[in-house]
Parts: sequence; structure tokens; C-alpha cells
Amino acid sequence: MNNVRPESMARITTAELANAFIDEQVKEVREQVGDKKVLLALSGGVDSSVVAALLIKAIGKQLVCVHVNHGLMRKGESEAVIEVFRNQLDANLIYVDATDRFLGLLEGVSEPEKKRKIIGGEFIKVFDEEASKLEGISFLAQGTIYPDILESDGVKAHHNVGGLPEDMQFELVEPIKLLYKDEVRVVGKALGLPASMVDRQPFPGPGLGVRCLGAITRDRLHALREADAILREEFDLAGLNLKVWQYFIAVPDVKSVGVKNDKRYEGWPAIIRAVNTTDAMSATIEEIPYELLHKITARITAEVEGINRVLYDLTPKPVGTIEWE
Ligand code: XMP
Repeated sequence: MNNVRPESMARITTAELANAFIDEQVKEVREQVGDKKVLLALSGGVDSSVVAALLIKAIGKQLVCVHVNHGLMRKGESEAVIEVFRNQLDANLIYVDATDRFLGLLEGVSEPEKKRKIIGGEFIKVFDEEASKLEGISFLAQGTIYPDILESDGVKAHHNVGGLPEDMQFELVEPIKLLYKDEVRVVGKALGLPASMVDRQPFPGPGLGVRCLGAITRDRLHALREADAILREEFDLAGLNLKVWQYFIAVPDVKSVGVKNDKRYEGWPAIIRAVNTTDAMSATIEEIPYELLHKITARITAEVEGINRVLYDLTPKPVGTIEWE
């Protein structure tokens, strides 16, 4: 399969078309791989999850998935990867909790680009270490999709955490490289992946690391993760998860004075960001109903230790980027 989508290729919009694509890919992957082993970095994002499910169907335990938890995942995310892939799909899954390594390296680092570099570089290191412990791996699977090929040199490196260690000599397996994102979701559903995984909003590779602004501390990261979970829960309840493109909390390294239980309470503000876009190049603000904003504010300030204010970012892109860092 080359890197150009043939004009004759129909857009995959139905379960039937997805199943035909899956059957074809299962056959192709089996032919390509034979009885050899394939390695996949499984982040839990839509693309790598769909590739994993597809390859499990094609080659079962010949696929080795490595999930690196960099400690910057959203609440419940690594747990969901383990539940779906290890427990439900019986995948060969190596789970690496590298939280301490990442947070250790990030300690005291406040410069956004430096933080991103540390996270990306360490991710490669951890993945490389895991790969070198394994024997007989011949192939590396990647969740490259068609926009990645159109936008870059075909390797998902510019935006993804890490990319590939340069000295890894593997042949690539890229079964969804001719698909657009909406097609990847249809295929994922046909493969039986849960909607929560397939319909996931985009999540940056450096994760909560670029939303825990400035130098990351464990307590502020914890507050961010809890506040973000509340925002997501409330968006789910209100049905906004199906409408809004991306929504999250950022927590700056600033404290303000407040009052809690009749006592002075210094805390961080939680900043709500909710945007709509088609290509992430520009974005508009979702107008969250005031009633819901009040509910989210009440819950976050009551339930999350360390947060004493909730702010709403009304800045479109441009001039603000979607992420704060
Ligand atoms: P910005 O902040 O540049 O973000 O307006 C545009 C989109 O890209 C996502 N983003 C990333 N995605 N790795 C990724 O996979 C990254 O390092 C990264 N940084 C930003 C961001 O969440 C938004 O959807």
C-alpha cells in the first residue's frame, strides 16, 4: 500500500464499509507480518487504540502493546487502556508507570518548550527501554492517519509525544494510514471499541503537562486532574461532549485569597477552556450555558482541594492558542 489515497476509495461512513475495510486490512497485515511480532506504543488515543484493536484481530498475541503512563494522563485514562485492552480484548499489554521519572525530570522546569522537550525525550527513552527488553520484534505499528501524511513527512512525530527512536530498525505496519479521522472512528466502533475511546476529544501528547502551567507540582497536577474530570463529567451529563470539539481545565501557578469554611483559603484558579474548530488552526469559543457554568464552579470549588476560583477563557484562536502552553 503506498501513501496516496486512491480516488476510487469510498469514504468509510457505515459499519458495513468499516467491516469490509477491517477484513481487507486483517488479510494484508497477516500477509505482511507472517508469524513475526509487532510492537505498538498504545497511548489510548483514538488512532493507536484503533490500530491496536485491528491488529489484535489480525494477529492476536503477536502484537505487543506498550502503554507508557507519563503521569500526565487525564483521570482514569491509563486504567481504561488496561481495562479495554488487557481485560476485554486479552491483548499482550505491557503497562509502564513512569510517573516518577517524568515528574522528577520536570521538577522546577517552568518554560513550556523545555517541558515539552523533556516529556517527548523521556517518552522515547522509556519506550526504547521497554522495546529493548523484548525479543524477536520485527515490526513497529503506528497509528498514522491520512492527515498526518498530508501534513508532514508521513511519520507521526511532529505532534506526537516522542516519535520514534532513530536507531530502531523496524519495518512499519500502518493499517489506517489512508483513513481520515471520522473514518478511524467508524472503524473503531465496528471493532467494538467503547464510544468513550473512539469519540475521544483530541488530547495533546504532553498531556496535562501543558495544562499544569509553569513548573509542575504534584498537588497542583492532582487538582487539575480532578477539576478536569468534573468538567468532563458535567459536559457528558449536558450532552456537550458530543457537540464541543475540545474542552479542558488549565491551572496556572498563581494563588489568590479566598474563604472556605469561614477561614482564609489560598488556592489556584481553574480555567475552563471549551473550543470549536474543524482543523485546530483557528477556533471559536463554545458558549457554555450560565447555569452549567455555575454548577461546574460550585462543584470544582467544593470538591477539589487547592482550587478556590473558576475562570472562563473567552479567547478565540487567534489570538489565543487552544492550549495555554
Ligand atoms: P494549539 O494550542 O496549538 O493546539 O492551538 C492545536 C491542537 O493541537 C493539540 N496539541 C497537541 N497535540 N501533541 C499533540 O498530539 C502536542 O504536543 C500538542 N500540542 C497541542 C491541542 O490540544 C489542540 O487540539
